Amino acid sequence: MIARQPLMAANWKMYKTPEQARAFVAAFLPLIANSQAAEIVLFPPFLDIATVLESVRNSQVQVGAQNIYWQEEGAFTGEISASMVRAAGCTHVLIGHSERRQYFGETDETVNSKLHAALAQRLLPVVCVGELLSEREAGQTEEVLRRQTSKALEGISAEMAAPIAIAYEPVWAIGTGRTATPEIAAEAHLVIRSQVAHALGRHVAENMRILYGGSVKPDNAPSLMNQPEIDGALVGGASLDPHSFAKIVESAGA
Ligand code: 13P
Repeated sequence: MIARQPLMAANWKMYKTPEQARAFVAAFLPLIANSQAAEIVLFPPFLDIATVLESVRNSQVQVGAQNIYWQEEGAFTGEISASMVRAAGCTHVLIGHSERRQYFGETDETVNSKLHAALAQRLLPVVCVGELLSEREAGQTEEVLRRQTSKALEGISAEMAAPIAIAYEPVWAIGTGRTATPEIAAEAHLVIRSQVAHALGRHVAENMRILYGGSVKPDNAPSLMNQPEIDGALVGGASLDPHSFAKIVESAGA
């Protein structure tokens, strides 16, 4: 069996000022100082990135951006490019989070453009996919996951794909306290992995990390992380508190 290193990620969304971000890191680092099992990444708002990078220096914690634009530079007011994110010191980037799809017009096509831009800048992209409640209830979950995954990966070759991780975030589980059961999550991960295999071959699929996101908390993280199909967590609300996120990180080594 292939051992995929767990990736435990904090998506802070639009929370925390630079001062609050600094305080989080100061409290968080001692709590995870001895945890080796997982790759740990914080995704703060853009304005906090410099502060967080400075605060995590000499630790194992890495920093990513919550979004990028696919053009390298130009007259695109309010946007930030992959090369800027990279130059600032980020290693990772979230792409196609459901909140961006829902509120900011992100589509399967823009997700694909952003994925190409991230890979060109040697960022580690975490591509988010997941079905709406109405899609699950209509029995369309598998179809939606296959479509989102295959469109995201369009034009990506097996050779380029190694840095990519996928986050399965069922929209009905985000911020609702309604977590997918470990079995539901694992089933969705299998669908995504089989679609990756179809697009890029079995070897790529077996090595690709697929994270679960959606109301991950310290008490449900161990049973989720216990599923061989779940290679990490993308945590929103519970990542805002250093103690609760540290506990979740711990569940990756249990
Ligand atoms: P919650 O953990 O707050 O449900 O958010 C999940 C998420 O969207 C992470 O990207």
